[in-house]
Amino acid sequence: MSAINIVLIGFMGSGKSSVGRHLAKDNKAYFLDTDAMIESAEGKEISKIFEEEGEEYFRYLEKTTARWLKDNVNEAVISTGGGMLVYCEELKEVGTVIYLKVPFKTILSRMKKDELEKRPLFKDLQKAEAMYNERNSIYEKRADITIDADAKLEEVLVRIQKALIV
Ligand code: S3P
Repeated sequence: MSAINIVLIGFMGSGKSSVGRHLAKDNKAYFLDTDAMIESAEGKEISKIFEEEGEEYFRYLEKTTARWLKDNVNEAVISTGGGMLVYCEELKEVGTVIYLKVPFKTILSRMKKDELEKRPLFKDLQKAEAMYNERNSIYEKRADITIDADAKLEEVLVRIQKALIV
C-alpha cells in the first residue's frame, strides 16, 4: 500500500467497517473508524450526540476529525460515517477515497434491527432511501475509485486490491 491513507466512503450499512478492518489487516496497516473516533472523543454514542447536540454539531465534529486525520495519519485504512464526505469535502485530502457502492435493497437486507436503531438517519426508511439516491451521485463524483460492493466480503477485498494496483 502506498504512503497515503485509504478512505472508505459509502452509505450507512455498505460494509465500510468490516471491509476496512480486513483491508487493513491484509495490508498490515492500522484501521480507524471516524464514528468510533468521534464517540471516544465525546464519550457518547453517535445516536446520543444527534439527540443531545443535534446533527449540525455532529457534522462539525466530523470536520474536525477530517482535519486531524489529514495532519496526523498516514498509511491507515479509514472507514468514515456515511455523510462525512457529503458535508466535508476536505476528507478528499486525507487519502485515496474508495466508494463502496451497494444497492439500497442489499443494504436493507444486510442490516439487523440493532444496527438500524443506532443510526438516527435510518429511522424513516423512505427518507433514508431518498437520501441514498441523492448521495449516490455525490459519492461517485467525489470518490477516486468506485467499487461494486454488492458481493461477498472476500470478493469486495479482491476488487479493491485490484483497483489499487492499477
Ligand atoms: C451517517 C452515517 C453514520 C453516522 C451518523 C450519520 C450519515 O455512519 O456517521 O449516524 O449521515 O450517513 P455509518 O455510515 O457508519 O452508519
